[in-house]
Amino acid sequence: MEAVKIGLLGIGTVGSGTFRVLERNREEIARRAGRRIEIAWVAARDVAKARAVVGDAIPVVTDAVAAVADPAIDIVVEVIGGTGVAKDAILAAIAHGKHIVTANKALLALHGGEIFAAASARGAMIAFEGAVSGCIPTIKVLREGLAANRIEWIAGIVNGTSNFILSEMRAKGLPFADALSEAQVLGYAEADPTFDVEGIDAAHKLTLLSAIGFGIPVQFDKAYVEGITALTDRDMTYAEKLGYRIKLLGIARRTARGIELRVHPTLIPASRLIASVDGAMNAILVKADAAGVTLYYGAGAGSEPTASAVLADVIDVTRLMRAEPQERVPYLAFQPDALSDVGI
Ligand code: HSE
Repeated sequence: MEAVKIGLLGIGTVGSGTFRVLERNREEIARRAGRRIEIAWVAARDVAKARAVVGDAIPVVTDAVAAVADPAIDIVVEVIGGTGVAKDAILAAIAHGKHIVTANKALLALHGGEIFAAASARGAMIAFEGAVSGCIPTIKVLREGLAANRIEWIAGIVNGTSNFILSEMRAKGLPFADALSEAQVLGYAEADPTFDVEGIDAAHKLTLLSAIGFGIPVQFDKAYVEGITALTDRDMTYAEKLGYRIKLLGIARRTARGIELRVHPTLIPASRLIASVDGAMNAILVKADAAGVTLYYGAGAGSEPTASAVLADVIDVTRLMRAEPQERVPYLAFQPDALSDVGI
C-alpha cells in the first residue's frame, strides 16, 4: 500500500523529536498504522538548521502556508507553535482537505472554535494529543478510556517548566531565574517562557482537557490564571515546614454555576502522590462518577515525549483515513455535547 505522506511544519524541539522517533521506530509505526509513514518535506524558517536535523534526504521548504497545498501530502503535522503562521497554515491545510495533527495548545485554546468548525465543515480530522501533558494520553483517557463516565473534576500539574522550576528551587535551593534557564536549555520552556511561569500554558491545556472532559466549548478567557512568579524561597521553606509542597495546579470542576477553570500555586500535603511529582513531569487526576479517581503520570514536556504523542496521533489518523467518515468522529472536530458556560 502506498505510504502516507506528511508535511512537517516546524523542526524545533518537538519537530526534531518527531523526525527522530519516526526514523527510529519506522517499522513498528508502519505496522501499527497499517501503512508506511513518510515525511514528504519539512517547513522551517531556517533551512540550515533544518538540514542539520533531517540531512539532505528530505526537502526543506520555507513557506509553510503555501506548502500545505501540496497534493502529495495527506497529513499536516504542525509543531511550529504560536498563533501566527501556525494558524494560517492549519486553516489553509484544512481548506486543501488535509488532516491535521498539532501539538499547539495556545492555538487551540484561543482559536479552537474557528479551527474545529473549519475541520468539521471539510471533514478533516484534527488530533492534538501532543498539545496536553506531553506523552501522557490524557485526551484519549477523557474521550475514550472514561467515555462512559460523567467527569466530576480534573486537577493536575500540566506545565513541566513551572514544575521543574518549583522542584529545583525546593530541592537545590536554586534561584528562580537559574531554574528557568535550565528548563530552557532542556527544551521544556515555551518560546516565550512567560506562558510557563505565569500559568498561561497550563490554562491553555486545562481549557482543552475541560472541553473534552466536560463537553464544553473551548473557553480560555474564562479561566482564572495565576503563575509562580510571586513565589519566594520563604514560601517554599514554610510550606515544607508545615508538611506541604507547592505545585502549580490546573483545576476544572463542576459547580452549580457551570464549570470552574483555575490555575494557581496550590499547597498540597507532602504525603499525597502528586506532591512528589518533580522535574518536568506532569500528573493529572481525574474524578469520574463510575471509575472514581484515576491518576496519569509521565513526561509532560520535552522533545521525544511530545513526539510520542504526536506520532500516536499520526498513527490514529492514518488508520482512520480508511474508515467511513462517521467512524472518524472523535477526530473530526471537537463538538461540545452541552453548551454549559464556564464561570469562576
Ligand atoms: N512549555 C511546556 C511545559 C511544554 O513546560 O509544559 C510542553 O507543553
